[in-house]
Amino acid sequence: MSQTKYQQVIDYHDATKHHFHRQARSLGYMDWANQPNPFRFYKECPTTSLPLAHKDPEGQYIDLYRRDHSQVKDLTLESLAVFLELSMGLSAWKGIDTNQWALRMNPSSGNLHPTEVYLVVPELMGLSAGLYHYNSFLHALEKRADLSNELAQRIKEAIGEGSFLVALSSIYWREAWKYGERAFRYCNHDVGHALACLSFSANLQGWKLGYLDGLSNDNMDQILGFADTKWVQHEEEHSDLFCIVHRNQLSHPLTSLPHDLVNQLSRLSFQGRPNQLSREHADWSIITEISKSTRKGEGLSDDYKLMDKSLSEKAFPTLSATDIIRQRRSAQRYDGKTSITKTQFFHILDKTLARDHCAPFDLHLIDPSIHLLIFVHRVEDLESGLYFFIRNDNDLEEIKRSTRSGLLWDRVDEDLPLYLLETGNIQEVATQVSCQQDIAGDSAFSLGMIARFEANINKEAHYYRLLFWETGMIGQVLYLEAEAHGVRGTGIGCFFDDPVHDIIGLKDHSYQSLYHFTMGGAIEDDRLTTLAPYDHLKELKSIDSP
Ligand SMILES: Cc1cc2nc3c(=O)[nH]c(=O)nc-3n(C[C@H](O)[C@H](O)[C@H](O)COP(=O)(O)O)c2cc1C
Repeated sequence: MSQTKYQQVIDYHDATKHHFHRQARSLGYMDWANQPNPFRFYKECPTTSLPLAHKDPEGQYIDLYRRDHSQVKDLTLESLAVFLELSMGLSAWKGIDTNQWALRMNPSSGNLHPTEVYLVVPELMGLSAGLYHYNSFLHALEKRADLSNELAQRIKEAIGEGSFLVALSSIYWREAWKYGERAFRYCNHDVGHALACLSFSANLQGWKLGYLDGLSNDNMDQILGFADTKWVQHEEEHSDLFCIVHRNQLSHPLTSLPHDLVNQLSRLSFQGRPNQLSREHADWSIITEISKSTRKGEGLSDDYKLMDKSLSEKAFPTLSATDIIRQRRSAQRYDGKTSITKTQFFHILDKTLARDHCAPFDLHLIDPSIHLLIFVHRVEDLESGLYFFIRNDNDLEEIKRSTRSGLLWDRVDEDLPLYLLETGNIQEVATQVSCQQDIAGDSAFSLGMIARFEANINKEAHYYRLLFWETGMIGQVLYLEAEAHGVRGTGIGCFFDDPVHDIIGLKDHSYQSLYHFTMGGAIEDDRLTTLAPYDHLKELKSIDSP
């Protein structure tokens, strides 16, 4: 990889660190008049309303992860609609006074939702073959391009009957509006959350999400018609990735698309005009630059193996898989009292391990590169203090060498790669390094996600994005685990980078903290009203009807 791209990533990363006395550059105030619309609409293209799930797919908590389904759903308009609703659809409307905002199955930094979803689907009863944008507000598919019969047939041959493609893109402006230069990080966290959401939702129908590693960003932009789309300046969408969704049982899932198919897909005719999201914009050129430096070229990444370890528990939480997905929320405050048991804690950590044959990490994104530096506050039968959960054994010795001396490194459990570093009350430290957010200290535990950084960026600048995606996926697992175990989680994008590193004496770029998370007993804000996610569609229908 060229030294310049490596250096550009390091420079961006360092420039967007929060320090105790200096935050990463942003506007510094909330420009409410220009708050971006969180919903992308394409005008002037045919829209197909999707049915809302009248019955959720069956499945216990553990079926989020397990792949041994007895029933694999056929691909129909109904099953596609359920897949989208349970991954990227709305989960509720919240309100206070005259303000209302939608929440979604996928969380997002600042609830700004930069991530958009596209599909390439074969003909289904009620839907012609095409490239579609998923509009989560309408729970509808907006057709951006038709697929000819011939092309639809070629896709079927290449990806298999009953399979389809799903792509994600990011509108950086939505996050930059609030977070300024650090926004590129948040967009990529959100991609990771979305990936895990899609993987879990697919799994509940007996489908599997696989990452199409071989496609370049140029390929993706061409297939998605981004080069031909008339974006409002600063509101451009940027391709992130393509995945294939296929039946669980497929033994050799694709990792790329054949060249001839990419070429044919790159010549589609596009329709539809994107809506304008804000009236005025600030220009954050550093984001355009880091986006360019981290674009993916063609070709497959290094191969690696995931662990083949069975899931830990014998008795499962009783909530169904879809209840967990639908009730997921971020806590805004924690009670500073609620604890979880050591067994629960271990089961939660166990689910963050990247296993083969288990959602969501078996979509095969990256050799697991993220480890959890955990601030334990309230876990019964476990001493409060600092712990390290090493998700990839290969990094253990290097991490030990990269951190300060005097840490205990006592293995806590035979089965789990959990190490005690230091005992003591660490609530204040956790709060302090999380931009003084009480949620990090008042919880049962909080954590920093520490990435094998330099070695990955050295391999390819594009890995910068992948590292954030992996953190988002772990975050999503933690969100669902929190609900399953009767507590609540919150992602934490605001933390003081180097002060976190200082806690364990990380001095250089070999390992960097990329994302934080906290979990505990939430205090609900009872001033807020809650409305059903899609009641607004009934009102829209009644306005539409003569
Ligand atoms: C990447 C990411 C970073 C976040 N950072 C913070 C944070 O620093 N502080 C906070 O209180 N909430 C944070 N959140 C929670 C979001 O504000 C929350 O997801 C959003 O408001 C939507 O609400 P919901 O999660 O209940 O759907 C973060 C969420 C994500 C996904």
